Amino acid sequence: MDKDELFSEAEKAAENSYSPYSKFRVGAALLCEDGEIIRGANIENRSFGLTNCAERSAIFTALSKGQNSFKALAIYCPDADYAVSPCGACRQVISEFTDQSFPIFFSGNEKKYVETTIGELFPFNALDELKER
Ligand code: THU
Repeated sequence: MDKDELFSEAEKAAENSYSPYSKFRVGAALLCEDGEIIRGANIENRSFGLTNCAERSAIFTALSKGQNSFKALAIYCPDADYAVSPCGACRQVISEFTDQSFPIFFSGNEKKYVETTIGELFPFNALDELKER
């Protein structure tokens, strides 16, 4: 996997952010099992709670296209001078479709990315037990 390429896709994704309220652009790039990279941006709304984060935009776009197996996710935030990690809602959604070892890279505008896994961000995922019911 080429992390730099994934990050440059996340950077391009942030250009499509619709964030007139927070003025905080976020881009995500999701690497699918077959090599396709799907971009997502944060899309806000004047009813603030309807905002969709970049990470969920990417995952929902991928799933809607029939992609359901993922290898890595990169998140880039040009408006922060610190590395921006996924929110709780996104962690939950990512964990629905990935193993605990799924790699996540995130950065702010300095592009010094933090490398982690969904298991570290969202441990004790009981999805397999739920699916067995
Ligand atoms: N946001 C994301 O898209 N992803 C994150 O990981 C953090 C937050 C968005 C939501 C909102 O549009 C803006 O950033 C400010 O919170």
